[in-house]
Amino acid sequence: MAQTGETDGPLFYQTRANLPMVDRGEGVWLWTTDGRRVLDGCSGAVVANLGHGHPRVLEAMRTQAERVTFAYRTQFENGPAVELGHKLAGQLSQGLDRTFLVSGGSEAVETAIKLARSYHAARGDEARYRIVSRFPSYHGSTLGALAATGYRPLTDGYAPMMVEQNHVSAPTCYRCPFGLSYPSCELACATDLERTLEALDPSTVAAFLLEPIGGASTGAIVPPDGYFATITEIARRHGILTIYDEVMTGAGRTGAFAAYQHWEGEAAPDVLALSKGLGAGYTPLGAVVTRGEVADTVLDAGAFPHGFSYAGNPLSAAVGVAVLDVLEGEGLVARAAELGERLGAGLRELADRHPFVGDVRGKGLLWGLEFVADPATRTPYAFDLDVARRVTVAAAEEDLLIYPRRGGGGLMGDHVLVAPPLVTRDDELDELLARLDRALARSEAALASVA
Ligand SMILES: Cc1ncc(COP(=O)(O)O)c(C=O)c1O
Repeated sequence: MAQTGETDGPLFYQTRANLPMVDRGEGVWLWTTDGRRVLDGCSGAVVANLGHGHPRVLEAMRTQAERVTFAYRTQFENGPAVELGHKLAGQLSQGLDRTFLVSGGSEAVETAIKLARSYHAARGDEARYRIVSRFPSYHGSTLGALAATGYRPLTDGYAPMMVEQNHVSAPTCYRCPFGLSYPSCELACATDLERTLEALDPSTVAAFLLEPIGGASTGAIVPPDGYFATITEIARRHGILTIYDEVMTGAGRTGAFAAYQHWEGEAAPDVLALSKGLGAGYTPLGAVVTRGEVADTVLDAGAFPHGFSYAGNPLSAAVGVAVLDVLEGEGLVARAAELGERLGAGLRELADRHPFVGDVRGKGLLWGLEFVADPATRTPYAFDLDVARRVTVAAAEEDLLIYPRRGGGGLMGDHVLVAPPLVTRDDELDELLARLDRALARSEAALASVA
């Protein structure tokens, strides 16, 4: 991919970067202004679940834009927002049927943690304010969601500004923080929640916040059997809510509408945060869905003093409705499950051929590859080699997008996410694997000469 952007232009984000200039998108493909055709193997930031330029979503946007784009939620109700609330309730289970709309993932997590606090306060349980989350994890960039996040390069610099939150170990089985292995570990990562609650005084804890299948910070970890039953029992016994951060995993990404549904009956979210795939890259959109009892308890006690100007705007809501219609109409959740099996098998084959891929994990169309200098000991590469970034650059040279992150909460190791749109065709998946194969081969060879 040619680098055609400006380094000293009018915009700035995380770092100086000389990025290719995007021109247009269609399906799984993005074109640059200099004519390269790039395969979107990670749906941007695991956002573009329906691919680019889906005609049904574009049509819904046009129709709604011509009618009304904005009507403020304290002044008007609007049809698309109500319809989106009904549709989300129809997709979910366990009484998750009341929705608070927002405009992104960080906003969704902020809303969820404030809702948990408000719920306990409304019941007269003012002492509960702490959030327990996991390390590593990613929950967003705003200070509340960041305080719950377990990813040190993003959190350390802002630590003095944040309310200190508390972390238990994420189920990173390939690198068990307790040095154990499943099943003889007896789910030490799940029972860690009990120990942490006892140490904090459980009567001060409002909620346990978790990504049911890991996202960028862990490289798509899937918890072992029994994990959800254990954390659900502990949370219930101590009267704390569970918040499932499905910002990345929701809207069909893992082969179920929400990832918790893979463990229906054991995983029991009180509050669910959705975003990314819900707007699918067509509009900034997020949602917090909870049980009627939680919403009513808060509202009956007075109010939920929280909100965002763009929350529930009719244009974004109409996009959400269209996205859910396409997911349903095209059977894309089942397609994610089916194609995910093929993608997982293909990635495992690549790992067999490229030994520096130490672990392949994931579900549906959310997969992580972890890189190791020594597969036998699982020793990571030296930090400065920035291996995930190198592999991502090699993939970009093949006109393939993948998504890199450091491991160990940002402190050691490397992984990438492979998460193509749910509309990916079989031949496009083959093309993705072929390009990744070449990128892995070149990266591995280059590392052999420097590592
Ligand atoms: C699990 C999870 N939660 C929250 C967020 C924050 O979402 P946003 O970037 O839309 O604010 C992300 C984004 O990557 C995420 O993956």
